[in-house]
Amino acid sequence: MSNVRIAIVTGAARGIGAAVAKRLAADGFAVAVLDLDEPAAKLVAEAIETSGGHALAVGVDISDESGVKAAVQRIGEELGEPTVLVNNAGIIRDNLLFKMSVDDWDAVMNVHLRGSFLMSREVQAYMTKSGWGRIVNLSSTSALGNKGQANYASAKAGLQGFTKTLALELGKFGVTVNAIAPGFIETEMTAATAQRMGVPFEEFKNARAAQIPVARTGVPNDIAHAVSFFVSEDAGFVSGQVLYVAGGPRA
Ligand code: NAI
Repeated sequence: MSNVRIAIVTGAARGIGAAVAKRLAADGFAVAVLDLDEPAAKLVAEAIETSGGHALAVGVDISDESGVKAAVQRIGEELGEPTVLVNNAGIIRDNLLFKMSVDDWDAVMNVHLRGSFLMSREVQAYMTKSGWGRIVNLSSTSALGNKGQANYASAKAGLQGFTKTLALELGKFGVTVNAIAPGFIETEMTAATAQRMGVPFEEFKNARAAQIPVARTGVPNDIAHAVSFFVSEDAGFVSGQVLYVAGGPRA
């Protein structure tokens, strides 16, 4: 196992995170499948093992400082020292500003910003020690502004500043830090949005696809492919970037 790199993917029990975990396993990484939902994370880890990969499911709330510490230590001991981190876990608590509660604001900040901060701070120790590392943060096109998402848009814009700052701080240790900003991707998150708006998911997707230059909505593998590039060996000169994966130009 000594030449195998260890990757951690947060929020990997479903959606984009699960696709990223499976793709990185297929790329040859041993993958820690982290999620609040441990039973679902176990299913993803089992699927990876069944396809010949190596994975460990870890149940943790990434906004909990001691939980993150314990989880990363466990990964170091049971899977190996992690040098790839994909900060993907996320939640939405959409509402117009005048209806947004402090709890909705804090919950979103805690998962996206505090969670990515805690995970990155914990894992960078292994990366700087080994003189090599890759961090990929999941931003969103919502970072450019999106009605009903003051909390989420702020967190996703914040992650872009976080990405650029870590790229500056960690570059000299052989660590690259990049962000991916997806457009509309078909997952339980977007299905829940359709449901909240009372629109069947198919109809919701078709309406969105009509606005997208490549004339379709995204799927988790569209994002997994971009992550695979950023964490690859040969991408070492690409750092501090935000890649919009949205079926058309953004930013
Ligand atoms: P999803 O809702 O399908 O999956 C998110 C996963 O994160 C879930 O398994 C959930 O249990 C986990 N999670 C939530 N809070 C957690 C916590 N505190 N600790 C550990 N795990 C936690 O979401 P989806 O759609 O796969 O999104 C993944 C990422 O991509 C998120 O950061 C999201 O904001 C971002 N994104 C998604 C887009 C989309 O269209 N689906 C568009 C742009 C960005």
